[in-house]
Amino acid sequence: MKILKKNKWNIEENQVTPEVYFYNRRKFLSSTMLTISSAGLSLTGFPSFANSKDYPLSFKNNTKYKTERKITPEEINGKYNNFFEFGSHKEIWKKASKLKLRPWEIIIDGMVEKKISIDIDNLIKSMPLEERVYRHRCVEAWSMVVPWIGFEINHLINLAKPIGNPKFIQFESFLDPSVASGQKQYWYPWPYTESLTFQEAKNELSFIVIGAYGKKLVPQHGGPIRLAVPWKYGFKSIKSIKRITFSDKRSNTFWESLQPKEYGFWANVNPDFPHPRWSQSTERVLGSDKRVPTLIYNGYEEFVSNIYSGMKLSRKLFM
Ligand code: MTE
Repeated sequence: MKILKKNKWNIEENQVTPEVYFYNRRKFLSSTMLTISSAGLSLTGFPSFANSKDYPLSFKNNTKYKTERKITPEEINGKYNNFFEFGSHKEIWKKASKLKLRPWEIIIDGMVEKKISIDIDNLIKSMPLEERVYRHRCVEAWSMVVPWIGFEINHLINLAKPIGNPKFIQFESFLDPSVASGQKQYWYPWPYTESLTFQEAKNELSFIVIGAYGKKLVPQHGGPIRLAVPWKYGFKSIKSIKRITFSDKRSNTFWESLQPKEYGFWANVNPDFPHPRWSQSTERVLGSDKRVPTLIYNGYEEFVSNIYSGMKLSRKLFM
């Protein structure tokens, strides 16, 4: 997933993302927001932990989503990451360690009963945490297996109390070029954004991740909070989320704005639909030179194929 600086498709900065969309995002940070953490309160009535000392994560193991593959050693995938905010190569872990993970507020807005801003530790403490071992398949044809800790998006939807009939949930990462030098590269439409249909978000597999390998999520994996949607190519699993917006409109996402024919909105894993520049039929397992066959929906067909049953299974769904 390399974006070269001066290719023909490199368009001017103001053309990368429609300006209306880009600037409107900031307007959401409006004064009418309910700021729960600053009042030391929470949505669910537990006390604020924003300033408290570190605490251990308590979670149950959920073994429903079995994978026949071995968990990727932490030292391997902790040093092989995609996090374009810190560079367009894989060795970003040192640079990413500059990202300050506390305090960290997350805004939930759009079609919800009330805009809210919640402190990450309050959110973590309010959620039923589980560990799930998921496969992760990058669009670049490498894969890993990670024991994520987190909670289903369904729990976040309950917290957000959507109103009307939202069709999409949009996710937005942090924006701080003083920490993330990649964000000085004007040809990218920062901040990183992603989106799921409401139906996809409600699927039992859609997971908000706040930890991995038994502890809180480290910066290079998208700490303190990221997505894991394992049946889609990895770029859908947005890292370091700052804002979650319920909407009835589909907005352009980061990669889709840049290269819609290569990194589209749906991005469901399918070995039979090659990327325009390479095959998707096999994948390299991180930590080995082995290539293994890629599976439809990354092996999660039984859980997600119903989402797309009424839709034409065209190239668009898998790109
Ligand atoms: N999220 C943000 N904010 N920035 C990114 O560059 N890269 C995506 C996804 N989420 C990315 C992101 C891609 S392409 C992949 S494959 C995964 O994160 C990589 O996750 P990992 O580094 O934890 O393996």
